[in-house]
Amino acid sequence: MGVGERGVLVSGNWKMHINHFEALKLVQELAALLRAQALPEGCAASVHPPFTSLRTVQTAVETDRVPLALGAQTCHHADKGAFTGEVSAEMLAKLNVRYVIAGHSERRRGCGETDEMVRAKVDAILRHGMVPIVCVGEDADERASGAALDRVRAQVDAAFDGRPSAAVAAAVVAYEPIWAIGTGVTATPDDAEQMCAAIRAELARLAGPAAETTRIQYGGSVNPDNAAELLAQPNVDGLLVGGASLEAASFHAIARAAG
Ligand code: 13P
Repeated sequence: MGVGERGVLVSGNWKMHINHFEALKLVQELAALLRAQALPEGCAASVHPPFTSLRTVQTAVETDRVPLALGAQTCHHADKGAFTGEVSAEMLAKLNVRYVIAGHSERRRGCGETDEMVRAKVDAILRHGMVPIVCVGEDADERASGAALDRVRAQVDAAFDGRPSAAVAAAVVAYEPIWAIGTGVTATPDDAEQMCAAIRAELARLAGPAAETTRIQYGGSVNPDNAAELLAQPNVDGLLVGGASLEAASFHAIARAAG
């Protein structure tokens, strides 16, 4: 196990959990753990609270210089306008958000986000100088019928085709098989590696050697017991963690697992 030259990014997607009081407590607990045991060299971590907790987490992280990057879970593709209930990438950038998740399967399915909408979000995230974490992944039927690779390639193409190589190099892709999210069923390290390698190959077809620099995360029922094995795979450069990121000790253990 070790940290490759791309470095490792472990991201905590809090989804629709944790109000801003609880968010402050969680960040303070994480800060204490990180003071006691820092992340390994070359490893970084981001937290992705709900919008209502972003400002609280930003203030806590900046005031105490906690080594956590601020992330968001989605954004709208437009900078401003009559879009009731939406939050723009421009607004997130003003909060010093660094990473924005785009196209999480829960939004593709629950909010009707299409590949085209995900691409427009990536445009907005890049326009405002942030880093997209583009989620891709097949469902159980697609895996069973042998369509997983085509599905994932199509999602990668939709988000990245025609982008400058620097944008591809700086981006993050999260491979999150839908059947592994919140189910306790993790992809085997071999399955995760196979798909992450295929994603890198597709990025290389689109953008050439820049794909060697793109960080590719695995997500889906990651926990402190399986994190190290997943991170040991050559094309797994990080993890996107849901449930296990809601508790400071487990997220800290996962983020340290590449050391
Ligand atoms: P779980 O870690 O709870 O399976 O969630 C994964 C996920 O969807 C992260 O974005």
